[in-house]
Amino acid sequence: MSLTTAALVTGGTSGLGLAVAARLMASGVVPVLLGRSEERGEAALKSLGGPAVFVRGDVASEPEVAGALDAAERHGSLRAVVNCAGVPHAARVLGRSGPHSLDRFVEVVTANLVGTFNVVRLAAARMAGNEPVGEERGVIVNTASLAAFEGQVGQAAYAASKGGIVSMTLPLARELAGSLIRVVTVAPGFFHTPAVATVPAAARAELDRDLVHPRRWGDPAEFAALVAHVIDNPMINGETIRVDGAVRMSSGLRHRSS
Ligand SMILES: NC(=O)c1ccc[n+]([C@@H]2O[C@H](COP(=O)([O-])OP(=O)(O)OC[C@H]3O[C@@H](n4cnc5c(N)ncnc54)[C@H](OP(=O)(O)O)[C@@H]3O)[C@@H](O)[C@H]2O)c1
Repeated sequence: MSLTTAALVTGGTSGLGLAVAARLMASGVVPVLLGRSEERGEAALKSLGGPAVFVRGDVASEPEVAGALDAAERHGSLRAVVNCAGVPHAARVLGRSGPHSLDRFVEVVTANLVGTFNVVRLAAARMAGNEPVGEERGVIVNTASLAAFEGQVGQAAYAASKGGIVSMTLPLARELAGSLIRVVTVAPGFFHTPAVATVPAAARAELDRDLVHPRRWGDPAEFAALVAHVIDNPMINGETIRVDGAVRMSSGLRHRSS
């Protein structure tokens, strides 16, 4: 990517998104980080220590995403958008205190799926106005999860939100091809980030049993390396790529039934 480009990284203030921001910044791109917490945003800018920008906002809000896109366009031509914003969630459909909260289901799908689509549609409208560089005007990378394919007990809401991201990848890529914009999804396995620090130790130990090779959790920099390659490789389009060390998640029945 050219040194004068800007990239929007939603969820760029933590975990996988922060690693993507660092990787893009190292290649001369100005990353614009979108997140809801001012505190996390300031801490992320400090840790990046370079020309990055933080915009406070929610991915599901049209004006807040538009504000982040404006900020990106002030810093260069918007050639890449990486959607990493997302929330984890685990709850049984039939839990001890009754059926799964419908409000919570809607919240998870809104943050993970509706938010991703909101960013895609608004970013694509901006990118469509770019002058083509080489064969393309821009690339959008979304983040799903292994739960999109083998969701565990307790992951109905989360899996639905991530499955939607996988399912819309091809139709988005097919449609946005007309505007010379690629759309790719990355589905990470288990990566060390602040989000997984909230997973109970017993559940994490259970997930460890599914590790294949390498038998460890991923470093966010390894996720970011794949995203950077996707951005740079024009032949990757309309596909979901797993980055998981061959993990296939088991049902999760053992630890969730205790
Ligand atoms: N870590 C893993 O092993 C793993 C595995 C599979 C999939 N994933 C997916 O990878 C993505 C990143 O996860 P992570 O582990 O890096 O989590 P993380 O460290 O908690 O980071 C999540 C980021 O998303 C932002 N965010 C959450 N909801 C948002 C919203 N509505 N609007 C704007 N920003 C929002 C958070 O900032 P604020 O809270 O301040 O808004 C934060 O910057 C998520 O989509 C997650 O589902 C992660």
